[in-house]
Amino acid sequence: MYIDLMSPKKQADKNSTNPKAKKVYIETYGCQMNQADSEVVASILANDGFAITDTADNADVILLNTCSVRDNAEQKIFHRLSHLRQYKKKKFKLVVGILGCMAERLKTKLIGERDLVSIVVGPDEYRSLPSLITQALKGEQGIAVELSKVETYEDITPLRTEGVSAWLSIMRGCNNYCAFCVVPYTRGRERSSSYDSVLQQTIGLYESGVKEVTLLGQNVNSYNDLNAKKDFPKLLEGIAQALPYLRIRYSTSHPHDMSDELIYAHEKYDNICNFIHLPIQSGSSKILKKMRRDYTADEYLERIAMIRKHVPGVSLSTDIISGYCTETEEDHQMTLDLMKEVRYDGAFMFKYSERGNTLAEKKYPDDVPEEVKTRRLEEIIFQQRAIAGEINEAEVGKTHEILVEGPSKKKEEMWQGRSDTNKMCIFPYNGEKEGDLLKAKVVSANSATLFVEVVK
Ligand code: SAH
Ligand code: SF4
Ligand code: F3S
Repeated sequence: MYIDLMSPKKQADKNSTNPKAKKVYIETYGCQMNQADSEVVASILANDGFAITDTADNADVILLNTCSVRDNAEQKIFHRLSHLRQYKKKKFKLVVGILGCMAERLKTKLIGERDLVSIVVGPDEYRSLPSLITQALKGEQGIAVELSKVETYEDITPLRTEGVSAWLSIMRGCNNYCAFCVVPYTRGRERSSSYDSVLQQTIGLYESGVKEVTLLGQNVNSYNDLNAKKDFPKLLEGIAQALPYLRIRYSTSHPHDMSDELIYAHEKYDNICNFIHLPIQSGSSKILKKMRRDYTADEYLERIAMIRKHVPGVSLSTDIISGYCTETEEDHQMTLDLMKEVRYDGAFMFKYSERGNTLAEKKYPDDVPEEVKTRRLEEIIFQQRAIAGEINEAEVGKTHEILVEGPSKKKEEMWQGRSDTNKMCIFPYNGEKEGDLLKAKVVSANSATLFVEVVK
């Protein structure tokens, strides 16, 4: 298979100079999968003659690629829609569409929302966007929310905007049905792209100048191309061998599927980054069982011990939910204790948000009061910041290889890059270029950032 990586970009550039082309603005919320999907959507639309713009100001079509994982993610979209009404006042024919997980969860309920939304398209129906938009521009409403068992979009080259780092979706959907989670309902059944397509796309990205690829899936560990007999460790190995100078990352892992083979792949290949995101969710085995996570706290700790043994210097991050159904102070304390034991470099920490139709909603009361959830979350965040601060403090004097991303988003006259261990590194600009791989020495640190100097 031959994939022309330049084609969607060339097509998009051509469309942007065509005054007749309708302008589409895409705004992305939620996880990395959604970011990768927006690049697929942009590619499908560019291929159909639409111009992709990076501002809502003069767009003919505004698409919001949305997330449903917690209630506040959905509330954000409703607020955004209220705000977008001003654009509709200026341009009566403006088309507003909802894509992604909210589209899948709320379906027809979204049509006409805020007197604005005229198209609703779920994650497996993006190929129908050009025709739905064309109809909507004529004043019609449209909805496409079928979930597919086979759609992977593996034949579509995403229209990428980021320079040195690229997302590559290698699988879609999730079969795990963790009790709290809406994703299996919004993303459908699990399916993997073919080994060949992933390998070829990765090679194409590398040849076009990309220095780092993040392989994406809700649970990449269960990637499996049955025809090619390639599971996730074999896929990683295949890419690592074919492209020894490409940095390889992946997200997300499930502790239950964190196999020895995967850990050995980290041990064997330097270009597989020294970083693993392994969500624990809770430190209490009783709560883990009620979450349907399929592992106990002890089994999780055994996986961490195995990782630390075989991947020295590995950086670890996790996801935590506080205040899940029936969580007691004792359960909460177990989460704090486990986090102290593992000493994560980073963590994404959330308050439990009940989602309609999930197993937790059907089976357990959402019985931890809001103020208790908030207090527990604050305790978790406070402890995690202190630990990450200590870990980063201990980095002072060490050197890392960093991939230069460009000017710092927060500090003027500084540039930023990312270490192999996925830490944000800030350094004074001195003629470095985006995409450079440099050796850098840590001079100071806080819980979120390493301040480094480039070693010449
Ligand atoms: N597939 C990934 C990510 C799923 S969503 C995984 O399994 O890790 C990312 C994180 O959001 C989850 O790990 C979980 O910590 C959190 N999350 C999911 N549903 C939630 C809910 N209902 N309330 C609060 N946090 C939730
Ligand atoms: Fe949700 Fe669990 Fe699937 Fe992750 S593994 S997407 S938390 S159901
Ligand atoms: Fe959100 Fe859907 Fe991702 S619910 S976290 S955008 S898979």
